[in-house]
Amino acid sequence: MKRDDIALQPEAPAVGRPHPHESARAQVAGSAPYVDDLPEFKGTLYAAPILSPVAHGTLDGVDTGAALALPGVHGVVLAEDVPGLAVFPTAARDEAVFAHGTVQYVGQVIGLVLADSVMGARRAARAVQLSITPLPAILSVQDALAAQSWVLPPVHVRRGDAAGALATAPHRLQGRFEVGGQEHFYLEGQIAYALPLEQGQWWIHSSTQHPGEVQHWVAHALGVDSHAVRIECRRMGGGFGGKETQAGHLAVWAAVAAHKFGRPVKLRLDRDDDFVVTGKRHPFAYEYDVGFDASGRIAGLKLMMAANCGHSADLSGAVADRAVFHCDNAYFLEHVEIASYRCKTNLQSHTAFRGFGGPQGVIAIEAILGDIARHLGLDALDVRMRNLYGLGERDVTHYQMRVEDNILHELLPQLERQAHYRQRQAAIAQWNATSPVLKRGLAVTPVKFGISFTATLFNQAGALVNVFTDGSVQVNHGGTEMGQGLHTKVAQIVADELGVPLARVLVTASDTSKVPNASATAASSGTDLNGRAAQYAARTIRDNLAAFVAGLDGCGAGAVQFEGGLVTSPKVVRRWEEVVVAAYANRIQLWSDGFYRTPKIHYDKTTLTGRPFFYFAYGAACTEVAIDTTTGESRVLAIDILHDVGRSINPAIDIGQIEGGFVQGMGWLTTEELVWDERGRLATHAPSTYKIPATGDVPEHFQVRLWHEANREDNVGGSKAVGEPPFMLAVSVYEALRNAIAAARDGASGGRFAPGERIELRAPATAENVLRALGRLED
Ligand code: MTE
Ligand code: MOS
Repeated sequence: MKRDDIALQPEAPAVGRPHPHESARAQVAGSAPYVDDLPEFKGTLYAAPILSPVAHGTLDGVDTGAALALPGVHGVVLAEDVPGLAVFPTAARDEAVFAHGTVQYVGQVIGLVLADSVMGARRAARAVQLSITPLPAILSVQDALAAQSWVLPPVHVRRGDAAGALATAPHRLQGRFEVGGQEHFYLEGQIAYALPLEQGQWWIHSSTQHPGEVQHWVAHALGVDSHAVRIECRRMGGGFGGKETQAGHLAVWAAVAAHKFGRPVKLRLDRDDDFVVTGKRHPFAYEYDVGFDASGRIAGLKLMMAANCGHSADLSGAVADRAVFHCDNAYFLEHVEIASYRCKTNLQSHTAFRGFGGPQGVIAIEAILGDIARHLGLDALDVRMRNLYGLGERDVTHYQMRVEDNILHELLPQLERQAHYRQRQAAIAQWNATSPVLKRGLAVTPVKFGISFTATLFNQAGALVNVFTDGSVQVNHGGTEMGQGLHTKVAQIVADELGVPLARVLVTASDTSKVPNASATAASSGTDLNGRAAQYAARTIRDNLAAFVAGLDGCGAGAVQFEGGLVTSPKVVRRWEEVVVAAYANRIQLWSDGFYRTPKIHYDKTTLTGRPFFYFAYGAACTEVAIDTTTGESRVLAIDILHDVGRSINPAIDIGQIEGGFVQGMGWLTTEELVWDERGRLATHAPSTYKIPATGDVPEHFQVRLWHEANREDNVGGSKAVGEPPFMLAVSVYEALRNAIAAARDGASGGRFAPGERIELRAPATAENVLRALGRLED
């Protein structure tokens, strides 16, 4: 039966192994091109944006004379040059392509200057004279709340009787706090390169998480059909949510300019402009009133969350909704009342950022539980454990979804043991008692993150798999690669489905002409959606080949196995390549599409109830920090993480995502401070003034372990999404810092806090904010 010329050493399956990222070597060698590295077409013009210097005002005039007189300047593009729809076609339609009539924030794009060099365009853009009559600007959430200035109406979610539970609770605390926004700081800035093709057709290279939306927006702005616009993205140098909608702006601007001049146009924002023009993570402000018993179990909660959305709606509705969906984090809130405000301010339009409002929800309840534990003098992990969703009881969320896959009752104690939480807590208390200047803090926080787009319709995906006659396999799917390893995972899945070595599978650039109407690569669902779609496409091809081989060998198609580059029937073992060639000769289709829609989910947009999520991803982190009580400086000393990725498709990539997500969350809560001045100008718009974590900020002890169990839902390969959930584990840094501050204040006042007193630590916990929380710096 077995043929001698086949070495029967099938290669091991690709899924489950730590294969390197498909571009890792090329990226390290500098041979992985980003949009700005592509060879340029003849006649390319370079664009630079004309920016509003005023937060709110009427735009009375734009004088481009001085700019046009500069050498190398080719022309300008303003609002009147948009041939199609002059607003971006979002649901709210509240954002002009180029500002006209009014300006809404400092950095709003009024037009572009085109020149024959990048620097020439930038210099000329600054020479444009604007006449703007200032109007009163709303710059803070507080001012927006007072003025009832919303981008979208407030949302209220209630369950039970919060007021009644608060009135009868043995203990009660109130507090207010704020967390700041966050700049995405992708290493590759926003960029688009628009190429006019024949007969009103377009080809646009865009650094985008959502090629389909870029296509849709460009078609609207140019007034052409979507079929005439092709968007391509091989990779991004990071997106982190910042290229979900914002990439569309760049592409539309470049396309409008290319349309006006009939020339290819490249628009790449420099870092300062990128900071000033594009939206960021939403800053949030909170007010709470919580009632609880002597064990720290929450009886009732009233929570107000106000999101600073900036000047337009963008994705703010969905972001604020996700904050509402995650302000329980892992805890059962029987009597709860949540008010969510979507504040309109004269700032950048804040947008998606890793976690998409989830972090802003999670930190609210974790801060409240920390306050409760410190107030009662109880261990905070014990208080957290007591409030967890139950198993078979107390397991329905405030949005009426049953938590069926809760593993935190096992996961938290396991992390507690692995990190030696109790011993270290005791050692830290001892250490703090004798250390007058430096204080340490330790905290464990869990995460439970809902996986699926809350807008149910986005939970669909397509893929196209082509097998060539040499047996090589090309995959295209609706997702995009931003460093997270999606293409690598999809290639692994397809390789195993066809039973071929991973090296035979190539994933090519995202392209709207290959897979149409694809959702954004977002909500951590890239692999869940596109991995399954690609798996289904590969399965169709495999079924075609199995039927063909079954016909040759007179067996059932089900008896034909594909593994390790071999195709095995009960009679014959053949090489994959041999089967492919023979099938082609017999006119068997060697390519297929695949389509996937997430099952089980549904959700009522008006009441925010239903089952918005297919499943939850879980994890927990134990973090130790130290603060210097004289300077307010802090350091993270040790991190232990136990995180749930289900059955890992690629443990190397998953651990990388966990580490990267955590460190990015740590940056959000410690050093990454956005400062707007009293005129709405962003003062922190470069790495010189905005501090992201560096390698030196990561402690030597950074232990990441993966939970051992597969996803209980039928998700691709038994895996779970990993892109965003670990970000929220960094809330443990914030709580550890508050514990260290509490230790300092305990010592200083010679006793515990007065009832009702809480550690007011504004996030990010910069040195100034730590000093403020210590009571050593006035505002
Ligand atoms: N990892 C890297 N290296 N670069 C990124 O831009 N974006 C994050 C996360 N991990 C990002 C990343 C965000 S915001 C999301 S939603 C997911 O990746 C998206 O990819 P996935 O759905 O394939 O996980
Ligand atoms: Mo991620 S914020 O969903 O792009």
